This record gives sequence, C-alpha cells and structure tokens, in this order.
Amino acid sequence: MKIIYAEDDEDLRELFSMKLQALSNAEVEEHESGNSAISALKNNKELAVIVSDFNMPDGDATVLYKYVKENKLNIPFILFSPENLEEHETFKTFKNDHPGNRQIDKPPQKGTLDEAIASAISFFKEQNPDVVAVVLEYLPVRLKMLAKLTKTPTDIFIKISDAKYVKMLHKGAPVDDGVIEKYKVKNIDKLYIKNDQYEAFINFCMDSLLDKLLHLDGKNLDEVKAVQADIFEIVQNQLINIGMSETVIALTKTTVESSIKMIEANPDLTDLLKNMKSDAGYTYEHSMLVSYVACGMSDHLDWSTEDTKEKLSIAAFMHDITIKDQDIALKYAMNDGDDKAAGIKQKELNEFEKHPLDAAKLVSNTKNFPPDIDKIVSQHHELPLSKGFPRKLTSNLITPLSTVFIVAHKYIDLLYINDFQAEKTQQILDTMKSKFKSGNFRKSLNALLTLIHQAEF
Ligand SMILES: [Fe+2]
Ligand SMILES: [Fe+2]
Repeated sequence: MKIIYAEDDEDLRELFSMKLQALSNAEVEEHESGNSAISALKNNKELAVIVSDFNMPDGDATVLYKYVKENKLNIPFILFSPENLEEHETFKTFKNDHPGNRQIDKPPQKGTLDEAIASAISFFKEQNPDVVAVVLEYLPVRLKMLAKLTKTPTDIFIKISDAKYVKMLHKGAPVDDGVIEKYKVKNIDKLYIKNDQYEAFINFCMDSLLDKLLHLDGKNLDEVKAVQADIFEIVQNQLINIGMSETVIALTKTTVESSIKMIEANPDLTDLLKNMKSDAGYTYEHSMLVSYVACGMSDHLDWSTEDTKEKLSIAAFMHDITIKDQDIALKYAMNDGDDKAAGIKQKELNEFEKHPLDAAKLVSNTKNFPPDIDKIVSQHHELPLSKGFPRKLTSNLITPLSTVFIVAHKYIDLLYINDFQAEKTQQILDTMKSKFKSGNFRKSLNALLTLIHQAEF
C-alpha cells in the first residue's frame, strides 16, 4: 500500500510525510510537483490515496487532479490546501467525484487528516482484500530533536539500508554532546524509532521541555530563553503536524506563564529587550519581545486585569505562528510595512497577508484559551486610518486590547529596524506619535511611554 504525496515546501513535506506514515503505515512517496506525481501515477500499483498541496511550480493540483479524472483512477484525492475550489473548473464536482475525496485545511483541524486517511485506507482495503498492508517498522526523527534530551525514552536506530536498521542507543541511555557529535561528524541528521514507540518519543520530548521550564526561576534569562525557543519550535511543528492538541495548548500556556514570571522578575524592560537577541529565529524572538512590551504596558492601563496579561501573552505567542517564511516577515518588518522597498514579490505578499486570519482561525478553534485572543491576532496588523491589513479596519472597529498589541508590535518592529540603539529612541517615539494620535491608540501609546519612562503626550 502506498501514498503519493505532492508538496513543494520541503519542510512541510518532511513533517507531513512523517505524519502520513504514522497514520497509515503505508509507504509515502514524496513529490515536489504535480507533474512529478503524475509520472508516478502511470505505474500506480497498490496506491491507496493521493495527497496534494494546491500551488506548486511545475504542475499544481489542477494538473494532477485532471489527470486522475481523465484516467478514471478511482483513488481518493486529499487536497491539502484551503484553496477556494469554486474558482477552479477542474474541482467543481470534487466532493462528489469520489467518496474518499477530502479537502483539508493547512494546518489541519484536529482529527481531519486522520479521518481522511482512515477513510482512504478502508476504501483501499475494500477494493484490494488480498493485499496485506506492510507496516513501516521505523520512523525518522531529527538528530536536532534528540540533542534536546538528556536521555532517550525509546531505543534509537540508525538506518543502514531500507531493510536494515541497527540499534545505536538503548531506551534510557544518556544523550550527551559526545553522542550527538558522533553522528554530526558522519553527516547523519536523522535517526530512527520503532513505529510503535514514535508517539511515546514525541510525548517525552514535550514533557521534558515542560519540566525544564517549570523548574526554572524567571531570573536566568538565557536558560528560560533557550527552553522557550525549543518549545516554540515544537509547538510550531506540532501545529503544522497535527493541529492544536492538548499538549500544544499546555505547552503554550506554560510558556506564557513563564514569560509573565520573567517579566515580573525583571521589571527593567530594557535589559530584557537587549538580551532577547538570540539565534532561535526571528519569529520566536519577535513574538517574545511583543509579549514583554504588551504585558508591561498593561500595568499602565486603568482597565487592565491579570487576564489581560495572559491574553496579550498568548496572542503574542500565537500571532505569527503560521508564517512559513521568516525571511519575508523580517523583510516586511525591517521596511516598516513598505513591501515595495522590501522587494517582496506579489505572490509572497499575498501569502504573508493571510497570516493574521490563519493564526486567528487556529486560536478560535482552540477551546481552552481565554476569549478575545483571536480578535487580537486577526487585528495585529491593522492600523489607524484603515492603513493596515488584512481588513483595512477603521479605528472604531479595532478593540482597545488590540490597540495595546498593535502599539507594542510597532515598537518592537521599530527597535529592530534601528538595531536596538538607545540613541534612536526619540526618533522611534516621534514616528509612533505621528501614527497613533487619537482614541485608544493614543491611550495605548501613553501606556508604552510610561512603561519606558517617557513623558505622556
Ligand atoms: Fe508579528
Ligand atoms: Fe504578523
């Protein structure tokens, strides 16, 4: 039994082929374009399902699906993209063409991908009662992930060939720098885990990071930062992988609590800001900085409560989490939203401008978060005078809580642009005063000014 999976983004492909493998126990054949997938369809023995992204260079999903229809392949097709199908002639009858056809959001809503794969497999088994499913015995895990652990929760194997795996570490064995280095010098970046232990491994990674985080006091910034960055990466991967799970929610909440503790243990914000620069990646760094500033500001608003901090922090953690291309986010910020100056292509820009709504959807699908966070997330790029995106909202439609976030977010962008130089403070504040002149925006800006010991205006 086989799955054909077409996706042009390499990182996504790696994550989801792991996920598809785990869900189906089928061999997952990866393709980076529709045309490449078509060439594989020509010899399609034991094919259970086709999973495809929509936009891909060299043959998108319409090319691939057209081929499936014209050749009457009778195989379920999972379109893994939120693309509006009404706009494409080829997909007009998609949902009725085959009982196993599904459209799945990216990232998938909890359980939807599982259901689609299960349905495709039961269809395949009905059609092919004689084929015995081959269970993939080993699943890959990145060396980078293993390096975050002090001991391994499962046996770890190294792949010699498709048929041969050799055990390198026993369950419970210590993982130290020496062990990791040994594989690094051999250019091995993936090790393998037995299929039935895979979930235990992932859960152990999350638990041990949570544990580390819970036992840190807020004072050692470097330690907290390092653990938070790891968690951010896992949450982001898991979100793409399986949607919002209980563990992801718990991780987010704990990270946010630790951030709030850290902010409270370090009332002098400037220290925190200076020390945030790290190699953990722009989105993480940026998200944490926004949360520090927004929480700090909430102490200077007459309407704020303890809840306000939690909401702002979770919003900060989540607001850019669906951005795939960190470089574009950074370019956009560095040019203060001037996409022409940033040299961002129209296609990239369209994709980027969807992120507030994508992330807000993810938040609103999460039942255990406090209310209002999706609003902040969906509005975080809106600006006064309808100058923001994606909805170009007028100020009266932007909530007071969102204005706190937007002002904090703009401040962080401007600090980045000016490389955190103290002598640029006045210039930054002048820019902000010219943008946030009235109403709730002005009140929020005044909270920021108080926070950084400047006179209100
Ligand atoms: Fe952002
Ligand atoms: Fe953003």
